Amino acid sequence: MSSGIVILLVPCHDPQGSFVSPSLVFSSLTGREVLTPFPGLGTAAAPTQGGAHLKQCDLLKLSRRQKQLCRREPGLAETLRDAVHLGLLECQFQFRHERWNCSLEGRTGLLKRGFKETAFLYAVSSAALTHALARACSAGRMERCTCDDSPGLESRQAWQWGVCGDNLKYSTKFLSNFLGPKRGSKDLRARTDAHNTHVGIKAVKSGLRTTCKCHGVSGSCAVRTCWKQLSPFRETGQALKLRYDSAVKVSSTTNEALGRLELWVPARPGSPTKGLAPRPGDLVYMEDSPSFCRRSKYSPGTVGRVCSREASCSSLCCGRGYDTQSRLVAFSCHCQVQWCCFVECQQCVQEELVYTCKH
Ligand SMILES: *[C@@H]1O[C@H](CO)[C@@H](O)[C@H](O)[C@H]1NC(C)=O
Repeated sequence: MSSGIVILLVPCHDPQGSFVSPSLVFSSLTGREVLTPFPGLGTAAAPTQGGAHLKQCDLLKLSRRQKQLCRREPGLAETLRDAVHLGLLECQFQFRHERWNCSLEGRTGLLKRGFKETAFLYAVSSAALTHALARACSAGRMERCTCDDSPGLESRQAWQWGVCGDNLKYSTKFLSNFLGPKRGSKDLRARTDAHNTHVGIKAVKSGLRTTCKCHGVSGSCAVRTCWKQLSPFRETGQALKLRYDSAVKVSSTTNEALGRLELWVPARPGSPTKGLAPRPGDLVYMEDSPSFCRRSKYSPGTVGRVCSREASCSSLCCGRGYDTQSRLVAFSCHCQVQWCCFVECQQCVQEELVYTCKH
């Protein structure tokens, strides 16, 4: 039962602790953890009683400061675990057709590099944290936050803020403290990771919607109940995947006036411009990725990966070709409505071809 994997939050490449990024490290479950059902939303578990949450915090891989914050915030440990699960599943979903399929198990070397994939991991994990925390507040799973209570800016007269809204304000504020101040980010790696972390948080923010429901005589909408709602995390994942596809390679430049290092997108050779700063929404990376074709420090390779003959086999299998196997799949067929009132079906069996990348 304990063969699952979790991503844990670890402090990253900054011994001074001035900026701790929500990087992802996978390790096997010990079986002691309480895993909230994915996506863990809606199943409003009561906040953990007594000292149980202290133990939960100890099970997570956090910096000392983060552990302190975790202990002070009942419900946080469970939420962090939800976030980890959410980020991991989304990463695997978004990369299901790519050579790198987000399997980090035993291969955390990628987190210490500056690939596009590293950029995505930083963004998706901070997005998952932001999302899970805002939801946990509104679901009543945290002691220190509840619903979003921002007043309606638009015509307030017929509005009631009746439904508990997702508390993004609390979530982003808490996280910027939890992840640590940015000031110490001196080198290119640290600036890159911090930038991508913020791309993730921004992606969640831009998905926040005001949702309203009408009440009143025969749908007259005399009274509306409105609340702030995050978009499904799948949409955030999709947005971040698009950012990954158009990620921008950066180098650094020293801002003399501010006396610090800034990210810089060099101009193409022959271009009249000098280059420019990356946009706040761009994912940025420092070095080109390996091919991910063969087993390496960074990926298990693509041997044995299932592919689609029309769409993905040629790129996924890296030119090594693919094996074809047939298997039988059962499905319901020849369904007829019987009087009254059920549907009767037969079982049919169909042959299906499965393609997998060769060695
Ligand atoms: C990723 O691919 C490897 C094989 O290359 C496979 O063992 C693993 O199960 C895949 N992971 C996911 C999440 O699909």
